[in-house]
Amino acid sequence: MDAQASAARIGHVEKGPKMSVNPPAGQEASTKRHGDALENLMHERRSFPPSPQFAENAVGKASLYEEAAAEGPEFWARQARELLTWDEDFSQTLDWSDAPFAKWFVGGKVNAAYNALDRHVEAGNGDRVAIHFEGEPGDTRTYTYAQLTEAVKKAANAFESLGVAKGDRVAVYLPMIPEAVITMLACARIGAVHSVVFGGFSAEALRSRIDDAEAKLVVTADGSYRRGKPSALKPAVDASLAKDGHSVEHVLVVRRNEQPVEWTEGRDVWWHDVVDSASAEHTAVGHDSEHPLFILYTSGTTGKPKGILHTTGGYLTQTAFTHRNTFDLHPETDVYWCTADIGWVTGHSYVAYAPLVNGSTQLIYEGTPDTPHQGRWWELVEKYKVSILYTAPTAIRTCMKWGRDIPGKFDLDSLRVLGTVGEPINPEAWMWYRTVIGANGGKKENPAPIVDTWWQTETGAHMIAPLPGVTATKPGSAQVPVPGISVDVVDEMGESVPDGSGGFLVIREPWPSMLRGIWGDPQRFKDTYWSRFDGMYFAGDGAKKDEDGDIWLLGRVDDVMNVSGHRLSTTEIESALVSHPSVAEAAVVGAADETTGEAVVAFVILRGSAKEDPDIVTTLRNHVGSEIGPIAKPRNILVVPELPKTRSGKIMRRLLKDVAEGREAGDASTLADNTVMQQIAESLKK
Ligand code: PRX
Repeated sequence: MDAQASAARIGHVEKGPKMSVNPPAGQEASTKRHGDALENLMHERRSFPPSPQFAENAVGKASLYEEAAAEGPEFWARQARELLTWDEDFSQTLDWSDAPFAKWFVGGKVNAAYNALDRHVEAGNGDRVAIHFEGEPGDTRTYTYAQLTEAVKKAANAFESLGVAKGDRVAVYLPMIPEAVITMLACARIGAVHSVVFGGFSAEALRSRIDDAEAKLVVTADGSYRRGKPSALKPAVDASLAKDGHSVEHVLVVRRNEQPVEWTEGRDVWWHDVVDSASAEHTAVGHDSEHPLFILYTSGTTGKPKGILHTTGGYLTQTAFTHRNTFDLHPETDVYWCTADIGWVTGHSYVAYAPLVNGSTQLIYEGTPDTPHQGRWWELVEKYKVSILYTAPTAIRTCMKWGRDIPGKFDLDSLRVLGTVGEPINPEAWMWYRTVIGANGGKKENPAPIVDTWWQTETGAHMIAPLPGVTATKPGSAQVPVPGISVDVVDEMGESVPDGSGGFLVIREPWPSMLRGIWGDPQRFKDTYWSRFDGMYFAGDGAKKDEDGDIWLLGRVDDVMNVSGHRLSTTEIESALVSHPSVAEAAVVGAADETTGEAVVAFVILRGSAKEDPDIVTTLRNHVGSEIGPIAKPRNILVVPELPKTRSGKIMRRLLKDVAEGREAGDASTLADNTVMQQIAESLKK
């Protein structure tokens, strides 16, 4: 569907008659929408247009769709010039001559940190709060734009004094504390390329990312606070660097939780020793629009994570544009809170970059939603008068489980826009979000609109999302492409499917914040995203257009699972399991889970003596935790005598998924040994 088509059908309220529901071409995608019957979803009749007041004051108007359709790539050139301050203007909007390797805003020079910081101070907004930080134990810090600018300048000077220069890679392994954002912006300022590794990944996973990017510096902390207790981070860095042969020269350590740490003289440096004493003078120079900004590793269908590469000008333009329009941002008055960790792309685009580029005030919270009590988030919304909240469906479902009385104890009246991201949101959770949170427990006449945003690490910024002042929102659907983005659903042959049909989600035209490649592996970039359909980007998701042309995301059609909005690869977890000496073979599936969307379920065949070990399941769960990280630990590990395979030796995951979801196994006629499913059923009964 192009921008014009979406413009033609926004704002409608009543839904048409029944439509036919074809099984999506995307394999088993429909079953990934936990608990939702696709049939019911596609007949969703509820629709919530914006209130007249909201529409009148909205930043993003319906005209954006028409302008984008009429102007083509020049729409983005206009946004780039309006939203960013360029040191040198660009001479060409898009160079697609070497497709699929795009160049946006060719010849332009721009500094991300200058755009996020200095220019707001120069414009007289230095006293505006950039970051309200709340630590899990309740400690707080506030950074105005002037203070954050100074902090980033000092960090930039310190990084340079540690030998980091333009183009060098810096691994960032930090908790959600202000130093995380300061580090990312300090890298951007000097043109160093950050590679943030989520703190929940293991030493092994950290090392493989350090090696792949050949990072020179690692920025970490002694630790953090988790569920009311200090938790450690530095030991994982020490373990990851224990084996020689790495590229790291220094480890810069933020003191956060005062826990004792091991120290490697000459390599380790305290943040407070070098950053606090560094000069607060640092001039930002413009970097080429296509200068690498960051690498972020994400799971693919093979064992090895992919280093997704983003560059500067296009990324900043589209993240700033979407942050402003999807969330209806009024930077002078809004308090914005995105609950994502900086370890994920959401924490890059919608914590570290866009909110600051747009000069907004944001909240950063270090801890978990239930520490010290299950109302912590809502207490924070009340305390900071948060007006825009951006979170994941899994968090909403968890809060639903805890009950509406908990948010009911707090005043949520300040909330005026609610965002969701990371996985499909089921209509029930959507309605709960709207009434319990967005309507302040029913006390508000006009509940806050919900914007369901579909995008990926690879896309860099929102690609499908309603405009809250324009679109009549529909529970469970991300609905319409962002103005200027050309999204479609196609069949096996790459033909656009009609409304009412399903298929594969593709992007037809290059977009400013698109990934520029996979770090060090241009061929894999082409193979993964551009080989399935000629001239189109294949996202890996199944999708469906309903009778209104609204897009419904149906989940991944490849071997990628989505657990609590986090991407995990079945192959990567299988490799981790078989790397344990007790495991002969392993198969992993994502099973529908009420809270986390999907859950990891592993089937393993054990080697000889391990069969007698009563603790084998715990051992293997911990092994996956240390190979990849706690987030990848299977919810269930089922020990089985055999795995269902076709005659060509391919594991039939579909059948295992049936077992994992407690269903009668489906058609097993193509199995090499058709007694296998029975053997599995019997072994599980024991
Ligand atoms: O399957 C889609 C799902 O998350 C995948 C991207 O994961 P990641 O790169 O980790 O980025 C997550 C945050 C942007 C997609 O391929 N996904 C993301 N947002 C949605 C979604 N599925 C349905 N609805 C969404 N709003």
